[in-house]
Amino acid sequence: MAKKYVYFFGDGKAEGSGDMKNLLGGKGAGLAEMTNLGVPVPPGFTITTEACVEYQKLGDYPGGMWEESLQALEKLEKSINKKFGGKENPLLVSVRSGARVSMPGMMDTVLNLGLNDETVEGLASVSGSRRFAYDSYRRFIQMFSDVVLGIEHNRFEEVIKKVKKSKNVEIDTQLDENDMFELVEKFKKLVSEELGRSFPQDVFEQLKLSVNAVFASWNNQRAKTYRRLNKIPDEWGTAVNVVAMVFGNMGNDSGTGVAFTRNPSTGEKEFFGEFLINAQGEDVVAGIRTPEPISQLKDEMPKVFAQLEEVYRKLETHYKDMQDIEFTVEKNQLYMLQTRNGKRTAKAAVKIAYDMYEEGLIDKKTAVMRVAPSQVDQLLHPMIDPKE
Ligand SMILES: Nc1ncnc2c1ncn2[C@@H]1O[C@H](COP(=O)(O)OP(=O)(O)OP(=O)(O)O)[C@@H](O)[C@H]1O
Ligand SMILES: [Mg+2]
Repeated sequence: MAKKYVYFFGDGKAEGSGDMKNLLGGKGAGLAEMTNLGVPVPPGFTITTEACVEYQKLGDYPGGMWEESLQALEKLEKSINKKFGGKENPLLVSVRSGARVSMPGMMDTVLNLGLNDETVEGLASVSGSRRFAYDSYRRFIQMFSDVVLGIEHNRFEEVIKKVKKSKNVEIDTQLDENDMFELVEKFKKLVSEELGRSFPQDVFEQLKLSVNAVFASWNNQRAKTYRRLNKIPDEWGTAVNVVAMVFGNMGNDSGTGVAFTRNPSTGEKEFFGEFLINAQGEDVVAGIRTPEPISQLKDEMPKVFAQLEEVYRKLETHYKDMQDIEFTVEKNQLYMLQTRNGKRTAKAAVKIAYDMYEEGLIDKKTAVMRVAPSQVDQLLHPMIDPKE
């Protein structure tokens, strides 16, 4: 039988699972596992790390990989009843890297893929918001151009700055639908000038180029250096996760957040993380707007907060460890986009291990193993009191 290169997840069931990190990468295995657990995850599929390794060797996709991807894409369309490249109710996806072990932010991701001059109009009418549709389109052009076409992120930021100045506004959310439209036009012009060709309108070409770029990002300088410093073998490769987009930029009942299921610096069992209303994932990192502490969600979006609490419990009970998660809220509906064991300070490691033992989540031996020797060493040295 031919080798399987693509694993679907959606409709409450995944072909892969959490113990398949080597093949699906940490992110892919996490998405599959959460899907199987009944946690809300947007549907999608993972192209394996093996496909990446073979792609690097062959300079081309291994036989069957692209066809399998297209089949999975069709399944995805059925699952959420949207069409990739559709003029009426277009399916948009993210194309995300994800190696066996977490290499935070080292490789590439493209969001809002599947937009072009036609589908953006479809998105505008189906969502009832032209502003949202053109906001997504300008984000896509900027990210795709940076990751795939090699036009620096900053070039686009300069354009945004100028438009904001001319409109006398400070933050992106103050730009209206006409401003977003103007940004899209200006971004497209920038791409044409830089490349001598227009921004790719064919959504399948967009997808292929992004998959190639994510595969290639395994060998960017950043990733190589990170691997050398962390002793990660060059042969592992990255998986590619194609995930149906959910939108945190749909208004004030939407947003995006990152969180730890316990406090990673003290180990305290409390909601810890940040949330940004009416925004997409990369806005949190970009630092243009200041996110709010996640605890505030309790007042602002009580239903989502309760849902999050339930997901926290489920994930911790299942993984038996503190999780570092990414999520998005689209119109008051919660979606999980990533989970991994969270990094923590030595102090937190001890507290979390002890608490989880007390809670009956882990046994004594596991609790002891959770604190690395180097962390014990840290704790035995004099420390500056962070409160002083
Ligand atoms: N389908 C999607 N819908 C909405 N947001 C998404 C989707 N896919 C990814 N995101 C968000 O986009 C951001 C970037 O995604 P991604 O997790 O792939 O890369 P990263 O967080 O920058 O790096 P890392 O590899 O360490 O996870 C994240 O905030 C993520 O939650
Ligand atoms: Mg991530």
